[in-house]
Amino acid sequence: MNVVAAQHSDGFVVYDGVQKSYDGETLVVKDLNLSVARGEFLTMLGPSGSGKTTCLMMLAGFETATSGEILLDGKPINSVPPHKRGIGMVFQNYALFPHMTVGENLSFPLEVRGMGKSDREKNVMRALDMVQMGAFANRRPAQLSGGQQQRIALARALVFEPELVLMDEPLGALDKQLREHMQFEITRLAHDLGITTVYVTHDQTEALTMSDNVAVFEDGRIQQLAPPDVLYEEPRNSFVAQFIGENNTIDGVVKEIRGDTCVVQLDGGVLIDAKPVNVSKVGERTRVSIRPERVEANKERLADDAHMIKAEVLEFIYMGDVFRTRLKVAGNENFVMKTRNAPDQVRHKPGSMIEIGWMPQDCRALDCPQ
Ligand SMILES: Nc1ncnc2c1ncn2[C@@H]1O[C@H](COP(=O)(O)OP(=O)(O)OP(=O)(O)O)[C@@H](O)[C@H]1O
Ligand SMILES: [Mg+2]
Repeated sequence: MNVVAAQHSDGFVVYDGVQKSYDGETLVVKDLNLSVARGEFLTMLGPSGSGKTTCLMMLAGFETATSGEILLDGKPINSVPPHKRGIGMVFQNYALFPHMTVGENLSFPLEVRGMGKSDREKNVMRALDMVQMGAFANRRPAQLSGGQQQRIALARALVFEPELVLMDEPLGALDKQLREHMQFEITRLAHDLGITTVYVTHDQTEALTMSDNVAVFEDGRIQQLAPPDVLYEEPRNSFVAQFIGENNTIDGVVKEIRGDTCVVQLDGGVLIDAKPVNVSKVGERTRVSIRPERVEANKERLADDAHMIKAEVLEFIYMGDVFRTRLKVAGNENFVMKTRNAPDQVRHKPGSMIEIGWMPQDCRALDCPQ
């Protein structure tokens, strides 16, 4: 077992040096080491094709790892037959059996496990009540809305009280309002029942609002594994900074590194202080990253060591709770400043020149992708 996995070998789910290739040439999952604690809600987040579903399928036992090992409760997953793994699953297109009623759909996984009729009925009703579908036991899936079907799929995954639930984009087909409601329902159920959940999505808002920890995937690798707030506040590299939340970037060159600050010369000439997060030496290209809500046009709201830099106002959008001002800064025409709507907040006019600033610690010097 390698070092990373050994540190986490007490996890309920452990991926230990897992690789996967479908064609024997390209690795779509590369040296995956990941540990999920009992009761944790972990989300695999990443762009299309980054390997999320493949990772989930290997855990479910529908795909086998090309190398490495997956452990469930300390045991290699291959040694446990699928029906004894106690894994509940919900997939975007994991259809309910159309010829069965809702009640029969839920009863089925219990029947497979050899549960008697009266216990089955009790468990089915309890699972339906959990997703507020108690009145629908006799309907067929075709007589339900998309959201209701998805709730039944969730109830079916939970009915046999699994220790582990896997979900792959389960809310993708739902409209925004229902999706948000179901996000809340799923996390509430998972926490109330103490279920360990591995959830897959490419929607970063969903990942941030639902998870204890988020693993950000890119091209078969985890770029960062962290709780939502850490992921947003302290992205480790440019990919994560750009993928999670809105982000402003300016490219430049590292001029000096001293402890926890560095000096960056932005393209265009301006020198600024930044926090060296993913830079190692003077002369290196860097991409500095600043969140829109950390940009300020009122110097009085910033401490003395804040930078002020010239910016041209390109667009002002009144969004109710916030003002969104698009600026041209050091050549970047998509630099966004987000300010809270307050009586003393200036509404900047397009075409005007202003000065904006931020605190050096809110400006992260990251890798500069080519
Ligand atoms: N059965 C398969 N045979 C061959 N290649 C596959 C197979 N399934 C997936 N792939 C490839 O493996 C890579 C990872 O796919 P995967 O489905 O794991 O991505 P994903 O992160 O779930 O993407 P999405 O967000 O689009 O669902 C992709 O390049 C994909 O084309
Ligand atoms: Mg997928």
